[in-house]
Amino acid sequence: MEIRENILETIGNTPLIRLSRFFKGEAVLAVKVESFNPGSSVKDRIGLSLIEAAEQAGKLKPGGTIVEPTSGNTGVGLAIVALLRGYKLVCTASSKIPPEKVALLEAYGAEVITCPADVPPEDPRSYYKMAEKVRDERGAFLPNQYANPANPDAHYRTTGPEIWRQTGGRITHWVTSIGTGGTISGTAKYLKEKNRDIRVIGIDIEGSVFGYYREHGTMPPQDQIHQYLADGIGEDFIPACVWWDYIDEVITVSDKTAYRTTMELTRKEGIFCGSSGGAAAAGARQIAEPLAAGAIVVTLLPDSGERYLSKLNNAWMRERGLVE
Ligand SMILES: Cc1ncc(COP(=O)(O)O)c(C=O)c1O
Repeated sequence: MEIRENILETIGNTPLIRLSRFFKGEAVLAVKVESFNPGSSVKDRIGLSLIEAAEQAGKLKPGGTIVEPTSGNTGVGLAIVALLRGYKLVCTASSKIPPEKVALLEAYGAEVITCPADVPPEDPRSYYKMAEKVRDERGAFLPNQYANPANPDAHYRTTGPEIWRQTGGRITHWVTSIGTGGTISGTAKYLKEKNRDIRVIGIDIEGSVFGYYREHGTMPPQDQIHQYLADGIGEDFIPACVWWDYIDEVITVSDKTAYRTTMELTRKEGIFCGSSGGAAAAGARQIAEPLAAGAIVVTLLPDSGERYLSKLNNAWMRERGLVE
């Protein structure tokens, strides 16, 4: 019989798919499609890992509460694991969170507290500080995906080995977007331990700090840090889960490139991802273009475009000049 014990057993082992219509060069360009996870995003991997690490460390007791500042996907990943293991989940989120994501978290039984998006992280009104307040007032466990090593560790234990196996150990370039840094760092550590010649390229978005920081070793001037339209990637600080030792280069793309590439990928390959996936695919194609046959460039699409239909539609994108 092939009956899984529960939905958690379907996390990971997502397919790796060649993009032969989107990319016509000599190298192979392939994407790991993370919307195949039960909560439809890469963050299911860390939902499990963050909770299991806390259980093992005795930080989470039966019936306990978990609180996390999340733009949505990590919330869903945590929510699925929390409900199966009998915990309560509170998510604090920026007001940029699309309404359908709030509904989704609530469907899984989570409580969602929305906070202003246009305040710095140290402001008590920010969703980061609100999570700390809930932690202190309710005695909740705060996983903190930005600094918790269980985040990159999930990718060290699952995403990295999967990519190594799926490419028969022939991957030459690992390209992925950076938010908390967990996906790029844990996967890169595993892959570079297998073959230190594998090149690791992070994808950042204009308005965020990673690209500048990788190049200059300092934070960008304040006027270069601004809001952007892409979801789930970029930050205005450097999270501890970004392990620079394993990142060779960062390519910064514009909102326009991210959204256009998302739609191009959908129309050419029938793979509908969120804008962070579009940004990653754009950067990966740029890397793959000059490479000769034999090169295998792998990138990752963190989630599904269906989660952002209030943005990923012609009217919204046209109004902002993202598409013609
Ligand atoms: C949609 C989306 N894309 C990309 C990322 C970036 O992944 P990571 O946090 O592992 O760097 C995230 C999470 O932050 C996300 O939710």
